[in-house]
Amino acid sequence: MVKIAVVGVGGRGFHGFAWPLSQRRDVQLVSLVDTNLERAQVAARLIKEKTGLVVSRYGDYRELLKTEVDLVVVTTPDFTHAEIAMATMRAGKDVFVDKPLATNTADCLRIYETMKQTGRRLFLGFNLRYDIVCRRIKEILESGALGRIVNISNADFYEGGKTYMARWNRFYKYSGGLFCHKGCHDLDIMNWYLNMARPLRVAAMAGVDVLRPEELPVAAAEKKIGPYCRVCQVRQFCPDAARVESPLYSEDVARVDAYYPDTCIYLSEKDTHDNGFAMVEYEGGQRVFHWECFFTPVSTRRFTIVGTRGHLDADLAENKIVVYPRWRKDRITYSLMRGEGGHGGADANMLEGLISSLNEPGRFKFTSVEEGIMSVVIAEAAEKSRRQGRIVETKELIDWEVLAR
Ligand SMILES: NC(=O)c1ccc[n+]([C@@H]2O[C@H](COP(=O)([O-])OP(=O)(O)OC[C@H]3O[C@@H](n4cnc5c(N)ncnc54)[C@H](O)[C@@H]3O)[C@@H](O)[C@H]2O)c1
Repeated sequence: MVKIAVVGVGGRGFHGFAWPLSQRRDVQLVSLVDTNLERAQVAARLIKEKTGLVVSRYGDYRELLKTEVDLVVVTTPDFTHAEIAMATMRAGKDVFVDKPLATNTADCLRIYETMKQTGRRLFLGFNLRYDIVCRRIKEILESGALGRIVNISNADFYEGGKTYMARWNRFYKYSGGLFCHKGCHDLDIMNWYLNMARPLRVAAMAGVDVLRPEELPVAAAEKKIGPYCRVCQVRQFCPDAARVESPLYSEDVARVDAYYPDTCIYLSEKDTHDNGFAMVEYEGGQRVFHWECFFTPVSTRRFTIVGTRGHLDADLAENKIVVYPRWRKDRITYSLMRGEGGHGGADANMLEGLISSLNEPGRFKFTSVEEGIMSVVIAEAAEKSRRQGRIVETKELIDWEVLAR
């Protein structure tokens, strides 16, 4: 049976992988790794209490790589993906890397080279590809109902994104910026809808306009505000106070490495944005617009796609797609039913795909590494564009022929 380990058992690693894998009978979860060993111990204890399964724990992924394991799931902060993925493949194991592949194009290309040299498989965690609305849109596009796609716009409204400003995600050096960390999902979906057309140039604007000290929603004279919600004297009045309830982030666990995910999102230092726009132009002339906002009270994704034969609007929170054929007065509405589990059932669908790929290689088409690289290139170009105030050509970052060879 395929043996799997999870490296990085924080929110994503535990809930998205370790926990569901511990309940499978067609693969075997064997180990958990976290630089905060106490977090790995808590995760292992939760699994043992609920399922009876005993897994080994390590504080250093290099110890894991000396053991018998077939697939290593990497759910550590984004800037560590490249090192862990490359070391895993060099140790002769397959690897699953949660999105984004890495925080910059250069690291992506190093991963790509290592994959080619070692011949190992690398699976990429783009769960939005397994979202039922996104998949149905892809089927509609493939049916030709919209003709040739000319424009796509997408908005990612994510209330939970404000918590990035309490954690490592808010620093460019750790996440590659939010166009990379979060936008890579949306950019990947739009690349997919355009059948991986080559993105040529990117223009972006972004900033921190709300999650900053002047916008604190509470004011109290003679009270000490922040720097962490747990010690903040106005926490009971603050609508954005973090309530960290997970045992994975208990006081005892957090004390080990002083990683408390409750830094005040208004006072925290940050060098990425809370709202931003990116526009991309592709080789075939297609144009794409991506908007992300992390202080809105709404959480959904919206897509509008316009082709030569029709127009499509979709809202992921409403599970709804409407197609307006061109030159006709009627419209076609799709109302979809979601499955259970994380990200509206997409995580469970992705895990099924991963496991069937492991147990029956070739049966399931997973997102390729080349596709993963493409979204990082666009995100890096967007970051460059917004910082330098100019349109950035993707060829400044990558020779696309490298991926074609
Ligand atoms: N696909 C999705 O929808 C989705 C959603 C959330 C997060 N993610 C991705 O999952 C990853 C983790 O995000 P998170 O929110 O769970 O972060 P987190 O901070 O909650 O957890 C990260 C864990 O990794 C551990 N860690 C850090 N460096 C390590 C190393 N070198 N070796 C082993 N462990 C290490 C930390 O101690 C922590 O426990 C990120 O890459 C993020 O982009 C993906």
